[in-house]
Amino acid sequence: MNIEILTLFPKLFDNFLQESVVGIAIKQKAISVNLTDIRDFTHDKYRSVDDYPYGGGAGMVMKPEPLYEAIQHVKKDRDIPVIYFTPQGKLLIQKIVNKYSKIKDMILLCGHYKEIDQRIRDIFVTEELSIGDYVLSGGEIPAMVMIDAITRLQEGVLGDMDSALTDSHQNRLLGCPHFTRPSDFKGKKVPDVLLSGNHKKIEEWRKQKALEITKKNRPELL
Ligand code: ADE
Repeated sequence: MNIEILTLFPKLFDNFLQESVVGIAIKQKAISVNLTDIRDFTHDKYRSVDDYPYGGGAGMVMKPEPLYEAIQHVKKDRDIPVIYFTPQGKLLIQKIVNKYSKIKDMILLCGHYKEIDQRIRDIFVTEELSIGDYVLSGGEIPAMVMIDAITRLQEGVLGDMDSALTDSHQNRLLGCPHFTRPSDFKGKKVPDVLLSGNHKKIEEWRKQKALEITKKNRPELL
């Protein structure tokens, strides 16, 4: 899988791409990530990437020309997804993560300021995604969220694929509580069933807890 990121702030990705699961996946060559600085596609003295919105109003809009050139530069003639992160997008849920985890090449476009010029969306963007109902300063953190979520589903990355498949949201339920040693921590004991070795009972207990947690925290998922 090759992921192309278009951003005004490539340095934001430095540590993210080196550490933890994503860092390991890149070292294992399970994924590759290429960063392109949109500002490199400006041609004026000030390397300007934004301008005032037609019609007035607060906030600046990202100009179409550098975006057009930057996207053309990485996309070439390929018919691949161009995902734009915006609070106006469809909510990024596990089902969408699963879909993109099977796609070989994609472009993640990170906007900044108010929005990007609508014509870039019309020309290139195949899907608009939001990571939640709040406004961030740009699309870089949403892009990291997406990369992390799809990377852990790549073959061989987590070691134990079952771990990814039993996560919260993979079956529309939240996850269940987890415990590790010691079995008694400050007087708080691990539930007996988890020590019983009875896999059927353990499975039932986990499902029951997942249902209780989902009902309490996210009843709309049920
Ligand atoms: N850009 C700014 N806020 C965002 C959000 N919530 N999701 C995706 N992209 C964004």
